[in-house]
Parts: sequence; C-alpha cells; structure tokens
Amino acid sequence: MPSLGHVLLVHGFPLNATLWRPQTERAPTGWRLVTPDLPGFGASQLPPARTMEEMAKEVLNVLDRHGVERAVIGGLSMGGYVTLTLYRLAPARFSAMVLADTRATADTEQQKEGRRAMISTVQAKGAGAVADEMLPKLLGATSQRDRPELAATVRRMIEASSSAAIAGALHAMIGRPDSRPLLARITVPTLVLCGEEDLLTPPSDSEALHAGIGGSRLVMLPGAGHLSNLEAPGAFSNALNAFIGPFSGGH
Ligand code: MLT
Repeated sequence: MPSLGHVLLVHGFPLNATLWRPQTERAPTGWRLVTPDLPGFGASQLPPARTMEEMAKEVLNVLDRHGVERAVIGGLSMGGYVTLTLYRLAPARFSAMVLADTRATADTEQQKEGRRAMISTVQAKGAGAVADEMLPKLLGATSQRDRPELAATVRRMIEASSSAAIAGALHAMIGRPDSRPLLARITVPTLVLCGEEDLLTPPSDSEALHAGIGGSRLVMLPGAGHLSNLEAPGAFSNALNAFIGPFSGGH
C-alpha cells in the first residue's frame, strides 16, 4: 500500500480544529489531514499555552504521536504564527509550508494594547464577549451578506474556547517576535493564501510574505475574508490540493 502524505494545519484564534472541516472533507486521495487543537482549545485537555513556542512544541508532539517525520505544515492567522515558530525550531520537519491569512510582523504597541484590553474582556465577560468583538472582523463582507450561517458556526467555535485558553493565546501573540528575518531562510516550497476581503491580516501582509519567501506561490481568494478556508472552501482546497500534489509519497 503506498504510504500516505500528511498535511498538518493549525487553526487560528480563538477557534479550534473544526475550522478545517471543509479541507478535511476535500482531502485528496493519498493524503491525511492532521488538524490538532492547540492546547486548551477545542477538545484539547492540555493547559493553555502562553507562548508561541509552547504551541509549536505541542504541534511537534502531534507529529511525533502520528509517527510523521516530515509533513506539509501550515496554519491560518495565529496558526501561521505557530507555523513560522515551528520552522524556526524544527525546519527539517517541513516538506512544504502553507501560510493562510497571516503575517510575519510582530504586534505594534497599539495591537498589544488591544490584546490586553481583550484579556480583560474575556476575564470579565467570557468568550461570548470576544465573539461579539471579533465576528465582524473575522468574516468578509461577502460572507456577512450572503452566508449568515457562517457567523453562527464561528460563534460556536469561539464560545467553545475557555477564557484561560483565549487569554493564554493573547499573551502568546503579544510576545511573538518579528518573523521577517526568518523569511529569507525558508527554503521549503511555500503557499501563501489570503482572502481578498481580509481585514485582520489584509492582502498586503500576504504580499509581503510572498515577496520575502523565495519561490513562494501566492493565491488570493475573492469573496473571502480572514477565515478564507471557511468562506471560500472550494477555492482554498483547490489551491491547497494543487500545491501539495508534488509532495505526496510518505512525507
Ligand atoms: C487569528 O485569526 O488567529 C487572529 O486574528 C490573529 C491575530 O489577532 O493576530
């Protein structure tokens, strides 16, 4: 039996592995999608992480538990921050990289302030208040107009997150370094994807990733916002599946 290729995809903030259901449903023959919950999110029983390194190390543990030496590894938004951190720690585990709706830069002081305010909000009012604040920014204008059911799906994911996991992830994002110096050292094939209507990590962030990572491929997804894999599931999976094709065969 030919060995499976593995794609490991890391979810964004403050969501969980079910974000990747559209891609799991569209996984091509010969590929297994591994979609972990980050510590404290979704079904994870682990204590919440407070740094990107802790999150990245848990992703390494997941690869080890699956007996996977090398995989196509990627993530959306915060999942992209985790992916870049993992590349810094263990580049040999990557056969290729996928960066969706994310950025290489660290937080500005203003962004850090916003995250500190959100830590206070989640501690005082819980995940529902975070959903109220984030939903209008997570989904693009087209989804908000044409696919109201998506807002309910995303709200369910956010409300399933514990306050401690949300606060921990906010700390981790505040503390993450500027990854721009890393980009020129990325030597694996890389796919950069972005919803054209992404307000949180706008297309200019993905264009900068593409410009910084030699030989990378950039795919813009019309009609999608920040959660491009959920908002444009077919186009996202087509781009992902076309990209991973050459890396099959037991990676
Ligand atoms: C995410 O979607 O993971 C977050 O919006 C990322 C961020 O806030 O920087």
